[in-house]
Amino acid sequence: MIKRNKFLPFALPAIEKEEINSVVDTLKSGWLTTGPKTKLFENNFCKQVNGGHAAALNSATAGLFLSLAALGIKKGDNVITTPYTFCATYNVVLENNANLIFADVKEDDYNINPEEIESKANGKKIKAIIPVHFAGLPCDMQEILKIAKKKKAYVIEDAAHALSAEYKGRQIGDISGYTGDAAVFSFYATKNITTGEGGMVTTRSKKLRDLISVLGLHGISKDAWKRYTSEGNWYYEVAYPGYKYNMTDIAAAIGLEQLKKDSRLLKRREAIASFYTKELNLVDGISVPFTFKDKRSAQHLFVLKINENILKIDRSTFIEKLKEANIGASVHFIPAHLHPYYRKKFGFKPSDFPVATKLYKQSLSLPIYPAMSDKDVSYVAATVKEIAKKYKR
Ligand SMILES: Cc1ncc(COP(=O)(O)O)c(C=O)c1O
Repeated sequence: MIKRNKFLPFALPAIEKEEINSVVDTLKSGWLTTGPKTKLFENNFCKQVNGGHAAALNSATAGLFLSLAALGIKKGDNVITTPYTFCATYNVVLENNANLIFADVKEDDYNINPEEIESKANGKKIKAIIPVHFAGLPCDMQEILKIAKKKKAYVIEDAAHALSAEYKGRQIGDISGYTGDAAVFSFYATKNITTGEGGMVTTRSKKLRDLISVLGLHGISKDAWKRYTSEGNWYYEVAYPGYKYNMTDIAAAIGLEQLKKDSRLLKRREAIASFYTKELNLVDGISVPFTFKDKRSAQHLFVLKINENILKIDRSTFIEKLKEANIGASVHFIPAHLHPYYRKKFGFKPSDFPVATKLYKQSLSLPIYPAMSDKDVSYVAATVKEIAKKYKR
């Protein structure tokens, strides 16, 4: 096969003229930070996922942190999450001074295993559970909510990958479905829709939404952003020692346009995922993601597993080979218990979370994003096939 000349990045945002014009309008409007566009983005996003109430922030990390804080999670409280996620998911537990408990994942979908949650929760008081919809594939929410109810624990969904993913016919975050106390979405540059940096919390509780919003803007009285407008007032009160996690109108201007395209962008991701699946499904030594009948994935990541019993190369060398062919690939994720800080603090060994450790060693993520052309997608699939064939034992 002929090697492509230009490097194919692992991820690229889908920025078109609408986003550019929207940002220019905002820049010309005189209002750059949290304001009317952020409010509109909150409303439109909330409607789109049927999320109840929504708070826009400058990241999903801020959303996870503030959800825990606003739900009153504090020193000594136990919080259960998965080790198979980005570090933001569990760093925020420690930032709230809570006790971090990991429950291992399932081999078929990389998502937290409800049986592991039960066994880790056994005999303990649990304040919150943070399931992560890995790669955009929904967790077993019905089972997780059942455990949470029994333990009287809050559920904060890390939905960073999961905008428009569906579980039992309802979107993640939809308050008429199997949703937790809060769902937290990310608009980081590589995510399905982006604002550069940004995040959104949706929740059925207006009280929780308002507290998250207030804590995200210094803890000062709600709608503090209006204090420089004609409707506003110079007077404000500090109700809590809050943080500075608000979304800017520049970011919201991008988000408003991205949101309108979400369904089209997701369809393109689905088309790429089904092409990869069709092409790679039967290739010896690699496996493609499973599909599940009551779950629609947001197809945020396309994660292959490399079987070293069949191939002579490991996952890392496979990525190197892709790079030599000018294809960017990545690994999602290095599990928590393998990072130095967590290894030292908790004395973790790789065998403590055997499924996460095994998956980590096998997994690599292929590029999957709407800006890829059909030619790009075919080239990636053909290159993967060629590498697998060349290195077959
Ligand atoms: C699973 C997961 N959770 C949380 C985050 C944090 O998102 P943000 O970058 O918006 O803070 C990410 C970001 O990559 C993520 O992948």
